[in-house]
Amino acid sequence: MVQTQESPVKIMSAGQNEKTKEMLQQLKVVTVIGSGTMGNGICHVFAQHGFEVHMMDIKQEALDKAVSTISKNMDRQVAKSSLSEEAKKEALSRITTYTDMAAAVKDADVVVEAATENIDLKIKIFQELDRLCPEHTILATNTSSISITRIGSYTKRPGKVIGMHFMNPVPVMRLVEIINGYATDNAVTQLIHDLSAYLGKVPCVVADYPGFISNRILMPLINEAILALQEGVAGVEEIDTIMKLGMAHPMGPLQLADFIGLDTCYSIMHVLHMGFGNQKYAPATLLANMVQAGYLGVKSGEGFYKYTVGSKDLVVSERFDTKKWK
Ligand SMILES: NC(=O)c1ccc[n+]([C@@H]2O[C@H](COP(=O)([O-])OP(=O)(O)OC[C@H]3O[C@@H](n4cnc5c(N)ncnc54)[C@H](O)[C@@H]3O)[C@@H](O)[C@H]2O)c1
Repeated sequence: MVQTQESPVKIMSAGQNEKTKEMLQQLKVVTVIGSGTMGNGICHVFAQHGFEVHMMDIKQEALDKAVSTISKNMDRQVAKSSLSEEAKKEALSRITTYTDMAAAVKDADVVVEAATENIDLKIKIFQELDRLCPEHTILATNTSSISITRIGSYTKRPGKVIGMHFMNPVPVMRLVEIINGYATDNAVTQLIHDLSAYLGKVPCVVADYPGFISNRILMPLINEAILALQEGVAGVEEIDTIMKLGMAHPMGPLQLADFIGLDTCYSIMHVLHMGFGNQKYAPATLLANMVQAGYLGVKSGEGFYKYTVGSKDLVVSERFDTKKWK
């Protein structure tokens, strides 16, 4: 770390060694690449915790939308008295937007990449980051499924490449799944662990295997629910109700799939299927059909449920409404 200005990080957890404490205190600038669903939430949390945040996207309108989303989400915190109006203003003033990557990362201590989930795009971004960032910069990715080891192998600093997997919505969800690439340095893992804790999150460190832990377990559950629906074992409402009331899940697996996006679910199942070479991870045919037909869940307006703008009612899609045959 080369920054001399004091970092906002003051609170230390008991587990930190002296070297990590020193490193944490020197973190000042965090650059977030991609300002979509996850990127804006990640910027929100870092800015709220005192960091200077550089938010970068290729689209100016995505940046404008992100700033407005962060402001609205902070308003909710103000309404609940979990943030003061003054703290909101200060946090927003710490966020600067960029469309030029070189300017966004030139003094970054940590970069969190949250661009579109596409392996070729991520490799290109990491090669650029490696070229443009100072030597000390840690390069983290928020990928849901792409191998950290593979991304790191395209840089000259694989020891400083790590997975920092926030959950959606970022300001609300407490987990950060930290993924160690095969070559990630232990000191970098410790630092990202402590940084996550400083952000008020609960960090869990896992190894770099397809789907890590979160999606290796969640996606087969969702895929199994889709297979059961495909086989006519039960309807959408029955499957989701059984998992909600019987297993105390806050949301049924089919509703959750709609929320995540069926295209994303399909692409993660594909990563598991290819990565493990095991038929048990084959995406359900119904899932593949729905994705190909453009029924992607909340973002397209219809998946297992039908969504109407402005309505919070959970309405099963007519395609799965078995009652129509009665
Ligand atoms: N959505 C989720 O629930 C969720 C949860 C956890 C992790 N993730 C992961 O987070 C990452 C982002 O997902 P998202 O849902 O926010 O996607 P999104 O589509 O909402 O946003 C992606 C953003 O990246 C920008 N982008 C594309 N190419 C870029 C480039 N070269 N440089 C800078 N910005 C670029 C796009 O303009 C867009 O604004 C993905 O890797 C995804 O797998 C998503």
